[in-house]
Amino acid sequence: MNSLVKRMPKAELHLHIEGTLEPELMFELALRNRVALPFKSPDEVRKAYKFSDLQSFLDIYYQGTRVLLHDRDFYDLAWAYLQKAHEQNVRHAEIFFDPQAHTERDVPIQAIIEGIHDALRCGEQRFGISSRLILCFLRHLSGDDAMRTLEAALPYRNAFAGVGLDSSERGHPPEKFTKVFARAREEGLFAVAHAGEEGPPEYVWQALDRLGASRIDHGVRCVEDPALMDRLRTDRVPLTVCPLSNVKLRVFDSIRAHNLPHLLGAGLCVTINSDDPAYFGGYINENFEAVGEAFDLTPVQLWALARNSFEAAFVDDARRSALLTELEMVCQNNRR
Ligand code: ADE
Ligand code: ZN
Repeated sequence: MNSLVKRMPKAELHLHIEGTLEPELMFELALRNRVALPFKSPDEVRKAYKFSDLQSFLDIYYQGTRVLLHDRDFYDLAWAYLQKAHEQNVRHAEIFFDPQAHTERDVPIQAIIEGIHDALRCGEQRFGISSRLILCFLRHLSGDDAMRTLEAALPYRNAFAGVGLDSSERGHPPEKFTKVFARAREEGLFAVAHAGEEGPPEYVWQALDRLGASRIDHGVRCVEDPALMDRLRTDRVPLTVCPLSNVKLRVFDSIRAHNLPHLLGAGLCVTINSDDPAYFGGYINENFEAVGEAFDLTPVQLWALARNSFEAAFVDDARRSALLTELEMVCQNNRR
């Protein structure tokens, strides 16, 4: 592992907490909660992780969530991630969760939110990792279902800071969720959305103009629309790019075929992230490593990506400047 990648402080801005469920923990929770799994061992689970597109992954991802039932399960899941994040020098994490994947199995929303939130508080105390929780709506479900989910979550408003949109993109345009995002913004929540992962550039426009998204998750198909590229560059809208995910889900054939150099060359604010690391074979550092190696990125280019992550984070000015200073110190030491 490139030691600069390891040493650089960084922010993780695109991570589904359910996507950090490693097969070992899946087995432990299945045993604890008496949930039957269609696999005999964690190795067998890993072997089943061969995906042809986003939907083929989501089918397995939602299967995995079935072992999560109680607040302690959500706590354990988030705590395991924070330990990993600490090892990789993640200093700030913005974490998605999918309440509808659990409430439809009658898991109380309070257990989900409080379990994750408690772990994030411990992560701050123990490791100094600041964090934000982002409630995602599943776009294959209806706008009304999303609205009911938001209303059910509002009693725990202090535990989350933003809303997002994820799940099956094709055929589910962001505009389906205009009302619920307006309601969320009324509550002072920030908005982000997955768009342009498999879906067309039009979905990125809708995420910006209909949902008021201030950051786009993935967004890699923006290169098909020059006017959209101009908009993203002019407004400095960050794209949270997930290279290993894009290869696993066949958005690109290989890391070398990824359009990251095109996005960077166009002057966009791109960040490197892990999406669902337990399923895609790597956390944030492995994603940095993969693109660093494939594109022969220089230390200056790697710093720029880490700097973008702090620029794109939803943190106050004091925290942002503290994080940028930490990064600057590592960069200076690297020069000596
Ligand atoms: N949910 C978890 N990972 C996702 C992804 N890459 N795209 C859309 N929804 C997701
Ligand atoms: Zn994602």
